[in-house]
Amino acid sequence: MKKIEFPRGFLWGAATSSYQIEGAWDSDGKGESVWDDICHNTKRVKNQDTGDIACDHYHRYKEDVQIMKQLGLKAYRFSVSWPRIFPSGQGKINQKGVEFYDYLVNELLANQIEPVITLYHWDLPLALQKIGGWENRKVVDAFVDYAKFMFEHYGDRVNKWITFNEPKIFTVWFYSFGIYDQRPDVRRGYLASMNVNTAHAKAIERYRKSKNSDGEIGITLALNHVYPNTDSELDQKAAKYVDGLFNRWYIDPVIKAAYPQDMLDVFSKRFNLSQIPKEDLKLLNDNPIDFLGINNYSCLRVSGKNTVDLSNIINMISPEKVEGKEYSETGWEVCPEGLYDLLIRVDKDYNHPIIYITENGMACKDEKIIYNIVQDEDRINYLKRYLQASYRAIEKGVKLKGYFVWTLMDNFEWIEGYSKRFGIIRVNNKTQERTWKKSAQWYQEVIAGNGFNIDK
Ligand code: BG6
Repeated sequence: MKKIEFPRGFLWGAATSSYQIEGAWDSDGKGESVWDDICHNTKRVKNQDTGDIACDHYHRYKEDVQIMKQLGLKAYRFSVSWPRIFPSGQGKINQKGVEFYDYLVNELLANQIEPVITLYHWDLPLALQKIGGWENRKVVDAFVDYAKFMFEHYGDRVNKWITFNEPKIFTVWFYSFGIYDQRPDVRRGYLASMNVNTAHAKAIERYRKSKNSDGEIGITLALNHVYPNTDSELDQKAAKYVDGLFNRWYIDPVIKAAYPQDMLDVFSKRFNLSQIPKEDLKLLNDNPIDFLGINNYSCLRVSGKNTVDLSNIINMISPEKVEGKEYSETGWEVCPEGLYDLLIRVDKDYNHPIIYITENGMACKDEKIIYNIVQDEDRINYLKRYLQASYRAIEKGVKLKGYFVWTLMDNFEWIEGYSKRFGIIRVNNKTQERTWKKSAQWYQEVIAGNGFNIDK
């Protein structure tokens, strides 16, 4: 047995997002978000589940903060529902919505838990989706005004800010796959992601000009290490390509203030990219991040046997399961070495940024329950291996400063509805009762000991 001990001050946390847990979808003057519309008016969500009530966190936040306190969390990453603050996305402020986050932030601080706010975790005000969402530059301006309000109002108490959660995922879902308007077009997603980057840089600019600019601000990206299936030239070429599409396209602009040239070459053949405004790149350059948030769940294994072509993005990510590998309930490979390789690579290629793992966790069946405690050894095993990989990266000099488990409690898992359980706390959807899973007890010990025992 050997104990691995994390550096002093390592920030142990848990993450959630507004639409996935708050409920109270139309309470106290909140405006509709695009997810309210998707849930109410389309059949896209499994079992037609909605986030109308979700975990009812809006009314139970005090109880939830007590759970966090018992867990020993040092920090809590949550997102703010933009339409709770600005019901139409811009203009008139909803005082009750502002108060809700005041109460939450104050409750966290009173319990010695650091609030970490994500400004955008996908619940765009519906009014802004109706004018084109992230394809429309007016939405960029509205976001910057919203961000400015947030910094001025909460910045006296909040010192860590994340502009966006996973620009890749929401731009690909909404615009490349067209989950909202059913006009799928790969080009749309990539163009929208450039507007998001501009919004991100402008928000940082606002932050630095705000009266509360002494904290840290960054962005959270969904990154997966990409492995070629074999050493063949074709597979390696495909891996580099997928890495460009899914990783570099998102990290390069926020750290290097440039888009990767090989991707620009590919895109310029397919779409007209001549309009990347120079001032957007300058904004990115002038407004660097203080830290990079990484969400990581799995890795990608890529085969070049399909034509290396944009329309084949999905085919290139091998759909077949690899023998001997373990998979989560979402069908994703459990791949801790992928996190290690990713951290080492980001550190090396991007000039040693400060990193937080802002999400990592596993959906499990959670079927075995003894004395009301979910026996989720599979989740513990997963977390252990990913944390061990994180620790190894720290030992190699990676500036990893904290870890936020995804997620605090079972929640509304987007188009999967309530069918996937990711929480370390179980939530009974009917009674809203919260019960601890074994993984929560385990995580509590890890935090208390700033590490854990490993076999060798
Ligand atoms: C991330 C999101 O993509 O992954 C979360 O930020 C989400 O909101 C989580 O719940 C788990 O989802 P997935 O994609 O692994 O099913």
